[in-house]
Parts: sequence; structure tokens; C-alpha cells
Amino acid sequence: MMLAVDIAGIKMKTPVMTASGTFGSGPEYADFVDLNKIGAIVVKGTTLEPRGGNKGRRMAETPAGMLNCIGLENPGVDEFVGHILPGLAAYDVPIIVNIAGRTADEFGELAARLSVPGVAGLELNISCPNVKEGGIAFGTDCANAAAVVRAVRKNTRLPVITKLSPNVTDIVSIAKAAEEAGSDAISLINTLLGMAIDIYKWRPVLGNVTGGLSGPAIKPVALRMVWQVARAVKCPVIGLGGIMTANDAIEFLLAGASAVAVGTANFVNPRASVEIAEGIRDYLVERGLKNVSDIVGRINDNI
Ligand SMILES: Cc1cc2nc3c(=O)[nH]c(=O)nc-3n(C[C@H](O)[C@H](O)[C@H](O)COP(=O)(O)O)c2cc1C
Repeated sequence: MMLAVDIAGIKMKTPVMTASGTFGSGPEYADFVDLNKIGAIVVKGTTLEPRGGNKGRRMAETPAGMLNCIGLENPGVDEFVGHILPGLAAYDVPIIVNIAGRTADEFGELAARLSVPGVAGLELNISCPNVKEGGIAFGTDCANAAAVVRAVRKNTRLPVITKLSPNVTDIVSIAKAAEEAGSDAISLINTLLGMAIDIYKWRPVLGNVTGGLSGPAIKPVALRMVWQVARAVKCPVIGLGGIMTANDAIEFLLAGASAVAVGTANFVNPRASVEIAEGIRDYLVERGLKNVSDIVGRINDNI
């Protein structure tokens, strides 16, 4: 009970979720980890039509991280609702669907089609750096971000989480625009735009030339942005970016995140989200604290 959190009406057993694109739809990991012990599963970015993703090499390791340019490969919303979602009913874990549209109206259409039993909430991916249309264009402009949230808001009663891009100068203004437009929660950060070059072929390593950087390398940036946003908005904040251990997650909670998500760490250790939740519980017990909310936003930054 001490780990239970309610994020905008989504009741989670632990504050540790899995990050979109790093955990499939969930069942792909069921042989390795008990899905019922995860706070919430955020499904891979879902679009109106099926997408094949980008051509060429899509992943590259970097010091303390990785680059990816998957390009939102997914089977499309109809396949998800018709064939994948029914299988997820076997698990006692909230399912949050990450959605990506090319226009605000497409986001609205996705929200309408996903407002069905079994979906606990929607996460708006206004921050994908790896697609030509939409994606990051929404997440780098306050008016565009607000337009997406409004289009979704009018089509669904589900909790709406807006996922922010770190590839901006002022992340607080985008967070505020999303909150004012009706977002129930904010998650951040998506990947940082990066690239790698093959010095023997004189060519980019990734098929898409650029890709999104994730993993421990981005944690200090993510933590700083979560701290800035949590102080500026009233809605709950979900923190992610480079979380590998319970100590990492606790830093995000102290910075003001009410929950966290684990991404790249799943590729190293599929049990990471559960082990991190256990580590947070141990940390609370050792300090005689009763609830995870006792540490949320408790950083003493009046220095
Ligand atoms: C292979 C891969 C695929 C991803 N796909 C998505 C996606 O479909 N939608 C999305 O919002 N974020 C996506 N992300 C971003 C992650 O959800 C997360 O925001 C980012 O990786 C930072 O967290 P991490 O450092 O813990 O991985 C993806 C990340 C990776 C590594």
C-alpha cells in the first residue's frame, strides 16, 4: 500500500511504470517479469494506420546510453483495439496507450477510438524526434501542443498525459500550455536528438541520420527538467529519462515527480521496473516513512 499512487485517476500499485516503446504492449515481457507488479504499462506509440518504421539501422549504443530511430513502427489502432488489447485484460495492470498523430485532428481521432474498456489513460506523444510529420513539431511550440491536447480532450474522458520533448529552450512554457489546454498530467522527457557517424564508411550510423538519445546519459537533463516543470504546474508529473536504479527513481520523486517510468533499462534488465519499486519501498521503510507521497517534491532547494 505504501507504494500505491493515483495519477490523474489512474490507480497504480507502484509509482514505477514502463516507458513507451521500450516494453512492447507488455506480454512480450511476461516470461521475464510479473506484469501484475508493474505500476502501469505504457504501450508503444500507436498511430491511425499501421506503420513500418524507418529504414536501415535503427539503434546504436553510445557511452551510457543508446540512440534509436524506430520511427513509430506499430500495427495501427484498429489492430491494437481488436487484437492486442483483449489479451491485456488477463493482467491486473493499468494500460496507458501512447498515441501519435500527424495532425491535431488525428490525435483526436485516436483518442476517440481508444476510449474503450481496458484503456486506463492516453499519453500524447508530441515529442517523437524520429518521424517526418507531426511528432516533435507539436512538442516544440506552445500553440501546437495546446491544439493537440484540446483535440484529444474533446474526444475522451480518459485521463490525458502529455509527454514533453526535451529538445526545446523553455520546457516550462510547453508544460503550462498543455496543462491549460486540459492535460491531466505531464510526462517528461522523451529522447534528446542526437547522431553517430561511422568513421570507416564516412556515413551516419543510423538509417535516419539522427535519432533519439536515451539511457543514463540523459538523466541529469531529465531530472533538471522534471524539477523545473513540477514547480510550475499543478497537475501530477511523471518523470523519466535514464532511470536504471531505485536511487535514480528516488531522485526524480524528490524533484517533484509523482511517478516515474523506466525505458532503456528494460533492455538491460526486463525486471527493472519491479526491482526499482522494491528499492523505493526499502528506502521508505528504512526511513520510517509511510507513503511514497512523503518524498514527492521534498528536495530542499532553498539554498
Ligand atoms: C527504442 C525506443 C523506442 C521508443 N519509442 C517511443 C514511442 O513510441 N513513444 C514515446 O513517447 N516514446 C518513445 N521512446 C522514448 C521513451 O519512452 C523514453 O521517453 C526515453 O527513452 C527516455 O527514457 P529512458 O532513458 O529511461 O529510456 C522510445 C525510446 C526507445 C529507446
